[in-house]
Formats: sequence, C-alpha cells, structure tokens
Amino acid sequence: MASQNGSAKPYINCKSVVKAYSVSDHEIVALRGIDFTMQRGEMVAIVGPSGAGKSSLLNLLGGLDTPTAGQLTVGETNLIDLKGRALADYRLHQVGFVWQQVGRNLLYHRTVLHNVTLPMMMVGIGVFQRRKRAKELLEAVDIADQAHKRPSQLSGGQQQRVAIAVALANNPDLLLADEPTGALDRNSAEQVMELITNLREQYGLTILMVTHDMDMAARFADRTLTLRDGALGQDLTESATETPPKLDKEGRIQLPVAVRSQLEDAARVAVEIRPEGILLRPEQDLADDTDAILQDILPRNGHSKKQKRWFRRNGQEKQQEARQ
Ligand SMILES: Nc1ncnc2c1ncn2[C@@H]1O[C@H](COP(=O)(O)OP(=O)(O)OP(=O)(O)O)[C@@H](O)[C@H]1O
Ligand SMILES: [Mg+2]
Repeated sequence: MASQNGSAKPYINCKSVVKAYSVSDHEIVALRGIDFTMQRGEMVAIVGPSGAGKSSLLNLLGGLDTPTAGQLTVGETNLIDLKGRALADYRLHQVGFVWQQVGRNLLYHRTVLHNVTLPMMMVGIGVFQRRKRAKELLEAVDIADQAHKRPSQLSGGQQQRVAIAVALANNPDLLLADEPTGALDRNSAEQVMELITNLREQYGLTILMVTHDMDMAARFADRTLTLRDGALGQDLTESATETPPKLDKEGRIQLPVAVRSQLEDAARVAVEIRPEGILLRPEQDLADDTDAILQDILPRNGHSKKQKRWFRRNGQEKQQEARQ
C-alpha cells in the first residue's frame, strides 16, 4: 500500500467539501470544508461526537447525497457530477454500506440467502451465479449454516455479519461502515471488527468506518481522523504511537506534541467534561475578542463597514434609477 504522503494518486480525494441542509427557513452546515485523502486499500476510522457530521460525510462518499460545494472523487468517479444511471451504477457496484441499525441493513421478511442475492439481482446477475457468490460470501462471514433463516432468528452480531455479506455482494472496492458495532456487545463487536479486517485482506477493500470507540479505531484502523462541528481535527494516529500520558498526583499531564501544537497560541485553555471524554479548547483573551469587535464597529477612514455597505447599496440604487 502506498503511504499517505507518497506520490500515488489517492483513491479518495475530498477537497474543501461542504454539506449544508436546508431546513424550513434556515441552513444547517454539517460539513465545513473537509480535506482528506485515502489510498486504495487503507482503513481509516472517523471518531467524533454526535452531530459532528460523520454520517453526512459517509453519505456523500456513498453517493447517497451530494456535496453543496467542493470536490469529491472516489477512484475515477467524480461524485460531484454523478447523476441518474451513473450514480445508480456507482452505488450498486463501487460501494458497500453497513449501518449501525441492523434493521436498516436487511429485509426482515426474507431469508439470509435472499438478502445477499438481492443486490446481485438488481445488477442482472443470473440466478446460478448469484447463489454461488452468496454462498461464498456467507462462508467468508462465517454464517453459511444460517442461510435459510430470517434475520430476526439471528443474534445482533450474526445480523451484522449478514449485512457485511450484503454490502460486499457486488464486489465493491469501497466499504463504508457507520458505527457497524455500535449496537453490539463487546464480544460480538470484536468478532465483527476481526471479520472486517480479514475481508479487507481477502477482497482488497478500502474501508472508511465511523466509530465512537477509540480503542477499536486504534487497534483496527491504519489512521484515525477526528471530526467535530463539521471540521476535521488532528490525525490521532501519530499520538497513538506515543506512550499514553498519565495524570500525576497534582493533576498535571504531559500532553503529546501534536496536542500541544494545537494549544500553544491560545491565551487560555478551557477544559470541558463531555459525554465522549474531556475536551481541551483553546480560547483567546477576552481583550483580543473585544478589540476585534471594536475594530468592526469603529469607523475606518471616516466610515464604518456598515456605513460603507449602506453607501454601496444606495449608490447602486441611484445608478439604477438614473438608467431607468
Ligand atoms: N437530512 C438532514 N436534514 C437536515 N439536517 C441534517 C440531516 N442530516 C444531518 N443533519 C444535521 O447535520 C449535522 C450532522 O449530522 P450527522 O448525522 O452527519 O452527525 P453524526 O456525526 O453522524 O452524528 P451521530 O453520531 O449522532 O450519528 C447535525 O446537526 C444534524 O442534525
Ligand atoms: Mg451518524
């Protein structure tokens, strides 16, 4: 596999990607200019708090939604321009999806075998071929003996195994997994992660996985990216290789270099306790903020920004009147 900094053309190229949703009278900006690349065969984990934009990013990469702005390519496919038949082909052939909610992955009134053959039926693969491949896949996810059961007769872990087989039915290059182990107990989650790792080798998959489990991310992924408020943060892979810092008796901690560089220009560091952990947030001095606000309000060259905007607008209206 080529290195992240190597010269090989990235398989995924995400440049200044913005995603905004229009909700009644306002917009929610879920992604604010995301930049990242992935090489073919890489496995990357995305961690971040609820509402950070993780699913939004996966949906864009899966062709389930389109970016509001930016550039996004997967392999040779430019996802910005993709429409109609080409978009449907991309979803059916190039990408497989596994969701956290097991109910979203499978049809409950159909057998396991039928669930796995369905995506192949949609691309016109003959009955013999699709049964053969479905059986191979069910063996690969170690659930061949359950082929004639319905998903409701299986455990959560088993259902996620079937979901992975469904996602891989049409031999995609890219597997997108949105908290695939989020609804599972620790043991089943471990097994599913081990399975995903084996399948990555076996089928040469590129995998982008959302997880809230930092430990899983560090153990199974090549890189871990953090997403917060629609923006990518520090790549945690470097800091994961350093010895984890420990809190001393006085409550002091030696922060990793990568974290220190994020905080060194801050006047103060705010500490917040959040459900997902402890957040260190750089803060500027109140005096600096006040200066910035005052600069915006106070007149510059005789007129404030607001006044200038008013003059410009009024001038345009006057010119228009003159033309009429
Ligand atoms: N279809 C949509 N319409 C409007 N707003 C949306 C839509 N999907 C997501 N959002 C908003 O975009 C932001 C990011 O949501 P997203 O689902 O990507 O977060 P997430 O990181 O996956 O969160 P979680 O960990 O809870 O799944 C949130 O503020 C969410 O409310
Ligand atoms: Mg989500």
